[in-house]
Parts: sequence; structure tokens; C-alpha cells
Amino acid sequence: MFPTISEEDEGADKDGNGRRAVLILDQTRLPARAEQVRLTTLEEAAHAIRSMQVRGAPLIGATAAYGVALGLSATADDATLGHVLDTLAATRPTAVNLHWALARMRRVLAPLAPDRRRAAAWREARAIAAEDAAANAAIGRHGLALLEPLIRRRGRIDLMTHCNAGWLATVAHGTALAPIHAAHAAGLPVHVWVSETRPRNQGWLTAWELRQAGIAHTLIADNAAGLLMMQGKVDLLIVGADRIAANGDTANKIGTYLKALAARAHGIPFYVAAPASTIDFSCPSGADIPIEERAAAELAASLDSPAANPAFDITPAGLISGIITESGIHAPDALRTSSEQGA
Ligand code: MRU
Repeated sequence: MFPTISEEDEGADKDGNGRRAVLILDQTRLPARAEQVRLTTLEEAAHAIRSMQVRGAPLIGATAAYGVALGLSATADDATLGHVLDTLAATRPTAVNLHWALARMRRVLAPLAPDRRRAAAWREARAIAAEDAAANAAIGRHGLALLEPLIRRRGRIDLMTHCNAGWLATVAHGTALAPIHAAHAAGLPVHVWVSETRPRNQGWLTAWELRQAGIAHTLIADNAAGLLMMQGKVDLLIVGADRIAANGDTANKIGTYLKALAARAHGIPFYVAAPASTIDFSCPSGADIPIEERAAAELAASLDSPAANPAFDITPAGLISGIITESGIHAPDALRTSSEQGA
């Protein structure tokens, strides 16, 4: 299978001189077709993020970083750098990994002389991608340590997830699905309830990803989640995140909040899994997180009624049992303390 994002060298030297492109797996074609798209310009990278050819907070962060490198291929003066960063920042507002990656690129590139920026941009984008893969592998290990005793005690586990926070949404491994992949790889019996995730159906991507991995799963309509919890068919929920505020309030795909409410009503643990790059300490609470409003056409296009299409919602920290990051499992209201202690 193609990776979600990779570099293609066309005779480029180690400093990035020569032509270089970025290959992405086009997620708008999945699950019907697995096709790669070649990005060679800033505009193509911005389009890939905006149109959701790439999606998922960590992956759009890595794509934005590579987009900076592509955008500096002809000139890398201050005006070009500013334009490139602004263009990519305007693609999607909620997932903070995108803005985190652009801030990091600015920090590294702005102090350099223009003729040194191009090679540095490729190096930094590569580092961001590699760090994401490593962080998610660590999330998988911490999540496995949470799941394994439960599975051993019950003989199996029925999990529920929402949207796609698997390897498709990251550079590798996934976030919410990383512990599930890890449990399966350890030979532990896992079954996943996969909610369709209207209107963009990212749950179909999760079902495709789990099927490829041979992990038992069942696709459900979003509105079936409450009934399944009431019937005792769900042991634990794990979702990803697009931005986690300093107080632990978490933005994730629309519909996540309803699942967290139902989980609380039925006493079911509800975990969020995300790398530290998803935590935004500059947002005091969920109320400060910008929520992307997507085109009404993503809903029932044939109806003439006005439509609202918020793409994300906020799950209050109080509904979250724990946040699994690369440094361990943290209480949602203790993120700052954990990060100050270097956890
Ligand atoms: O609109 P999308 O598909 O980019 O939204 C993705 C999500 O909400 C994911 O759950 C989140 O980004 C975590 S991905 C590891």
C-alpha cells in the first residue's frame, strides 16, 4: 500500500537542489481506489489540504510543511516565505497541527539567508514527518498498555471510534487506531464499532484501514452508537483530536461530543489519542478553538433548504477519561503540569 505522504526525488541532491516532488495517497478516491497524486507546487499542496485529498490533523501538518518546501522551490526571499506560510495557513482552521507545523517552519527558515532556506525546508519537513511517525508509534504502545489488561480480563474487547484517526490520518501508525493496530499485532482479540461519520464518511476509511489490517470491525450509522452503548456492546471508546485546548477540551470530528455524552451516561471510558503537536496551550478552552464550517453541498445537495455544516465539535475535558500522547496517558485537566514535568 502507498504511504500517506512521501518524497519523490528527480535527481535532487542532498540539499534539495534539483526537482523534488511529494507523493500523497488521494483520500478522496478511497476506499474505491488507492491512487497517488504528485504535488510539485505550493498551490497543489494547498489544494490537497483544502479538498481533503490529505486529511487528519497530523497528516495535514506534515503536508503543510512539505508545501512550504515546494513553495520555496523558485525563490525563497522573505516575501515568498510570507506568502507561502499565509497560503497554507488559510487552508483549514481547526486542526492545530497545520498551524503548529507552519510556525515551526517559520521559526527555522526566517532567520536563514534565502539561499539556505530551500534545503532547510526539506530537512525540517522530513523531520516533522519522522517525528509524527515516532510519536504515533509511542501512542500505540501506551494505548496497548491500557487495553491489554482489559482484554486479558474480558477475553476480548469491543471498542468504538469515530471518524478516521488511523494511519491514513497521519504520516504512519495513526493515533486512535494505533493502540488497536498494536493490540491486533500482539494477537489480542479486538473488535471495533466504526461509525460512518456523516457527512464525509471518514468511517469508511477506518473500515477500509481495519479490513486491510485484518482487524474485526463493524460499520454502523452514526446514530446507532447510543443504542450499542446502552446494550452493553461497547467497552471503551478511542477517538483522535484536531486541537486540544490547555484545559483538555478537545475538538474532533463532528459527532464526537454526542458519543462522549452517551459514553458518560453509560459509564463507558472515553479516551482521546493525539500527539503533543495537537495540544494548543494558547487556547485556554474549547470555546477558543475555531470550528471549520464546510460547504453546505457536503450535506443533502438536492434539497433547497439552507444547511449548516460544522466539521468539528468540542468534547469538554470532563467527559474525557484520559488523553494518550507519545509521553503517556494524561488526565485532561493536567496537560500543562504533565508538559512542564517533561512528560
Ligand atoms: O476533516 P478531517 O477528516 O481532516 O478530520 C479528521 C479528524 O477529525 C480526526 O479524528 C483527527 O484529525 C485526528 S487524526 C489522527
